Amino acid sequence: MDENEYLDLNMAYGPLLFGHRPQFLIARVVHQLQEKGSQLGFPQELNFLVAEKVKQIFPSIQLLRFANSGTEAVASAVRLARAFTRRPSVILFEGHYHGWSDAVFHRYHASVEALGDEALVAAIPGTDGMNGAPYDAYVVRWNDASALSDALDRLDGSVAAVVMEPVMGNAGVIAPRPGYLDAVRRLTRQHGALLVFDEVISGMRVAPGGAQELYGVASDITVISKVLGGGFPIAAFGASEEIMQPIVSGQVFHGGVYSGNAMVLSAADAVLTHLLTDGESIYAGLNARAEQFTAGLEEMMTRCGVPHVVQHVGPMISLALTRTDVAGFSDYREVCRHADAERYIQLQHALLDRGVYIHPNRFEPMYLSTAHSPQDVAEALDRFDDTLQHIRG
Ligand SMILES: Cc1ncc(COP(=O)(O)O)c(C=O)c1O
Repeated sequence: MDENEYLDLNMAYGPLLFGHRPQFLIARVVHQLQEKGSQLGFPQELNFLVAEKVKQIFPSIQLLRFANSGTEAVASAVRLARAFTRRPSVILFEGHYHGWSDAVFHRYHASVEALGDEALVAAIPGTDGMNGAPYDAYVVRWNDASALSDALDRLDGSVAAVVMEPVMGNAGVIAPRPGYLDAVRRLTRQHGALLVFDEVISGMRVAPGGAQELYGVASDITVISKVLGGGFPIAAFGASEEIMQPIVSGQVFHGGVYSGNAMVLSAADAVLTHLLTDGESIYAGLNARAEQFTAGLEEMMTRCGVPHVVQHVGPMISLALTRTDVAGFSDYREVCRHADAERYIQLQHALLDRGVYIHPNRFEPMYLSTAHSPQDVAEALDRFDDTLQHIRG
């Protein structure tokens, strides 16, 4: 409206892996709308084509359902896990967000004081109006296998699902510690709980097959969304045929008038076809840009004497300005303890003045896309540098 221009480093919270208005995707959706329409009201060939492609890049999925948002898909995944295991409880993690449904919306950015010292606590409702929900939901420290082991012991056979972002993207960007996901896999199996990977952010972002491909650990139920639609509202959850049986048989209800509509499926088909055809060069390019950007940020912050933590997993990147020198973050509490929220918002405002958009929420990652050229990244770094000089002044 004000005719300002910005270099976008948030990319609509992550879906825009191919940038704004990628022509191959727009052309596919327009063709669908003009030639075939937005939806039929029952499954069609497109549903199968997209499902087959999802299965190709996520081998842990044999059957899947389409939904309209990550929130819906996670809520359905939790319902499915409860029905399949006939158990009530879910384990969630500090700093992890899984949408705003009553099934899982906990105060994921609670203060460290509110979280207290107990290793396992009942989830705090994420908003007023939840009537005590999320029910039978507990919160544990992430990236800590012994905390999860203790929690599973204490909840003693009542846990239906352990639900996590396998790369944490809602409290900065935090990678799983080496071996952590393997330990989680082992523990969930031992305790008969299903492992749900919420790959709404990491799916098709850190690798085509998400964190489960990158780290070689398969979940029982997988949820994907953002990059799947490249900017169109689609999500999916899937699992083995066995785990999906309660949905196949109708014991578990999942619906939605717009779930799996042809418009968003045509977008997903374009995205997946592109990834399956050119995946190697797409991710090599994204990772190279991410290295260029994070190395540039590191160099500049160090040169300017600004304490900071830059972390990234592929083109998911976080920058925290810290109060003192810190080696890195491995969980939400460390981010809370060390990251300086006031200086971050000061930086965010000053960057806006220089035509760079990062999200005002300090926990929100930056995302690079295939549309960010090396020149764009260099330009972004120049503008960051200019901004830092200004703030220091
Ligand atoms: C990891 C994760 N899960 C679930 C969701 C909810 O998705 P939606 O906003 O599409 O409902 C989000 C949204 O950002 C997310 O980051």
